[in-house]
Parts: sequence; structure tokens; C-alpha cells
Amino acid sequence: MTSRRRFLGLAAGAVVLGTSGFVVVNRPSASGLLRSARPLPEPFTVPLPIPSVARPVRTEGDTDFYTLTQRVADVEILPGVRTQVWGYDGTFPGPTFHMRQGRRAVVDVRNSLTVPTSLHLHGGVTPPDSDGYPTDLVKPSGTKQHTYPMRQRAATLWYHDHRMDYTAPQVWRGLAGMCLVSDAEEENLPLPKAPYDVPLLLCDRAFDEDGSFLYPALDSGPGVHEEYGNGVLGDVILVNGAPWPVLDVDATRYRFRIVNGSNARRYELAMEPGGSLVQIGSDVGLLDRPRVHESLIVTPGERFDVVVDFSAYPVGTEVTLANRLDGPVMRFRVVRRGPLSDPPPQRLAAFEKLEPSSAAGVRTFDFRAAPHHGMRMWTINGKVFDPAESLADPRLGSVERWRLSSDFHHPVHLHLAHFQVLARNGRAPEERDAGWKDTVDVRPYETVEVLARFDGYRGRYMMHCHNLEHEDMAMMANFDIG
Ligand code: C2O
Ligand code: CU
Ligand code: CU
Repeated sequence: MTSRRRFLGLAAGAVVLGTSGFVVVNRPSASGLLRSARPLPEPFTVPLPIPSVARPVRTEGDTDFYTLTQRVADVEILPGVRTQVWGYDGTFPGPTFHMRQGRRAVVDVRNSLTVPTSLHLHGGVTPPDSDGYPTDLVKPSGTKQHTYPMRQRAATLWYHDHRMDYTAPQVWRGLAGMCLVSDAEEENLPLPKAPYDVPLLLCDRAFDEDGSFLYPALDSGPGVHEEYGNGVLGDVILVNGAPWPVLDVDATRYRFRIVNGSNARRYELAMEPGGSLVQIGSDVGLLDRPRVHESLIVTPGERFDVVVDFSAYPVGTEVTLANRLDGPVMRFRVVRRGPLSDPPPQRLAAFEKLEPSSAAGVRTFDFRAAPHHGMRMWTINGKVFDPAESLADPRLGSVERWRLSSDFHHPVHLHLAHFQVLARNGRAPEERDAGWKDTVDVRPYETVEVLARFDGYRGRYMMHCHNLEHEDMAMMANFDIG
């Protein structure tokens, strides 16, 4: 059994009794917004940092060896004050890994924190013992070797902590970073390359008077105070760890790898005063052809690979990347002319569209708040997470049709298996659902159908809600690939 005892209680006014049990109502009283206790910087004054790139400590044949230490560090996030983070190599975000299809990466993790950790590569096609299962813990002072065979397509992945019951607070304290996988197909495309290929890890945080992170943890044990049971939101938006940063750009095309690393915040990203986001990639790879978005909803765990054309603006223009659901995210200042660039090609990557007829079976998973021993829990098919139980047993190499239904916003994520969105409420998926994905936005009272391919390795993997507070409050389930 899990050690989860103290759960979200029944927040007065936060729940109503529906026909099928408890239904969470998304009302302001349950918004979960944490307010900082110190003055916040003016937006667009801090330059956008670019996380350092992880360098292999040695290379042997087709294998690159890395080390990665989880440790405490004091860093400047808000100007003029230090914030203690738990960072990979003491940085937040952690170093960006550049991996290559067909080259194996071996990462030796050392835990220098005082709490157990588990490292998960989100979007990785990883053998089970290296996947960062929530109870595969590295104890304080312990080490663990993770092997990433990287038999997968070019994609924007990210890595983060996955300790059972404590993922949300541990990621909030800084345990997250990016991993860019490349392959020959991508390399040969005329897409913006460094320095015009920029990763953007979005998350929100709140700060105490002394600059430390605020988080509404309970005094002992896992879980959050009941008014944060729907998920914790901060009042400061960080991009690559900097508050509402600014980036000086050339008037040319840029490629942005957008990662929503927030615990619970959704974004609807748009350029102001106008401009489009040309999507070239989804969670786990390039699309077949670009998709033009005027705005883009990005839920926790999702990635969007987009191209933005700053040559469409006169030099001197300030362009804001805004969250239409809330406020600004960051700003771009078009400061100089740049090299001529072509729009992304109409044909991007070879893409195999999965057909419903290829599905070996259909399964249904309902994501919902439900009473459990007198407490309100986040459940899948009425069950709280039990590491010893499995809810599905897909065969290695098979495709299955999974129906995901929901009472709330649940970004549903599958480990190992990549999928394609087939339908939303019986209708065609949205433009933003295109491509291979590992996380999908399931909205209140929506049923999203996906075709998932269980390829790679046999063994125990999991699915869960990527709202990290929901995840910690038991909204996870195992599946066993046999
Ligand atoms: Cu990004 Cu199981 O998680
Ligand atoms: Cu994952
Ligand atoms: Cu959820």
C-alpha cells in the first residue's frame, strides 16, 4: 500500500455531489493560486537564461557517459535575492542533454539531497529499470545508473523527479531539465539551428519574503493543503528559471522548444501584438507538415516545437509571448536585422498514421475525483494508485485504442508508449493534437480517444495525470507490457 495518508479533505464549496459521485468544480476558491510574499520584479527586465548543455564525461563507441548530481544550491531567480533550489548539478532548470538517435546515453545519478529521488526521462523509450518508476528510489547519498538506448525519433524530451507522493514538491523545488534528441531526418531539414534554436521551459512558482520558494505542503507526510488539491499555481511565470524574461532577437526565424514544466498551470500561448506560432513538432517528434496556430494550449507535460518569424516585425518591435488564460510569459525585442530564413518545409518528417483498424483492443480509463476512505482522492477507474496492481496488459508491439474520460482538466501521460489522438468527444481531434504524443489535454467532461503503440520494452510502466498534485494524490496506474 502507499504511504499516502493525508489527502485533500473535502474543501467546503470546492466539490458538489454529481450523479456519479464527487465532482470537482473549478471555482475561484479552489484555484490553488499561491501568492508571493515579496515584491516581484517588473516583467521583461531579466534576460532569458539558456541552461548549460550536459557534456559526456567520456565516450566509448556508440555510448556517451554522463553524471548528474541532485543537490541543493542557492541561485538568483528574483533579482537581488537568493533562492534555495534542488537542482540537477545544482541548476534550475538542470543542464540540457543533447542526445542522438542510435547513440546510447548512460547517466550516473548521484543523490546529494536529504530526500529520496527518482529520475524520469519524459517521452523516453526507456527500459523499465531506467524509467524512473516512482518507487525506484535513489536514497540520500545513493547512486543509480540509467541507460537510455535512444532508439527513438528526434524530439524535445524533458526529465524530472518522480518520487512517489512527492513529485510535485520536488519538481517545484527545481528538479527538472530538458533533453533534445536529434536524428538524421531532422538534421537534413532547413530548420532554424543554433543560436536560433532555443529551448523554453515554462513553469510557475511563488516566493516567500526571503526569496525562498513557497509551496503549500502539509507539515508532515505527502499532500497539500486542501484548497490546493486541484493543483498548485504560482504568481510568477518562469522561463528557463527566470521571471517573465526578455530575449533580444534578430529579425529572422527562431525555433522554440516549448515545454510546460508547470505543476498544474495550463497556458494558451499567443504572440502579441499578433503573429503566428508555426508548429513543427509535438511531444515526441516532428509533424508530417507544419500547423499554423494563432494560439496554442499547452498543458503540463506537453511540448510544442514551433517556429516564429521575427522578420515579420520591424526592428525595434517588442513582441510578447502571452498566456491568454492569465498574463504575460516573456518578451522578445527585435533588435537587429537577421539572416534570411525560409519557412519550415511543407514536408517535415515521414509520418505513419495509425488507423483504428490496427488496434488490438479498446480500454477505458476514467480520471476523476472520488471518495476513498472518507477522503477526496484523484482516481483512475475509481482506483487510487497501487504500485502492486496493473490496470492493463498490452502486448509488446501492439496498438490499442484507449478512451480517456475526465471530470476536470487532466493532462494524461503515458510512459514509454507514444500515441496519436483519434477523437475528442467522438469528433475529429484539434490541430494541436497532431503528431506523436505522450501527454494529452483531457478537459472536463471530455472523452479523448488515442491510438497508443506499446513498443520498445516489456515490463511495468505507468500512466498518470501530469497535474503533479493530482499525480501525488494517487492519479497513477501501472500497465504491464507482456
Ligand atoms: Cu513527466 Cu511520469 O512523467
Ligand atoms: Cu513520462
Ligand atoms: Cu489530473
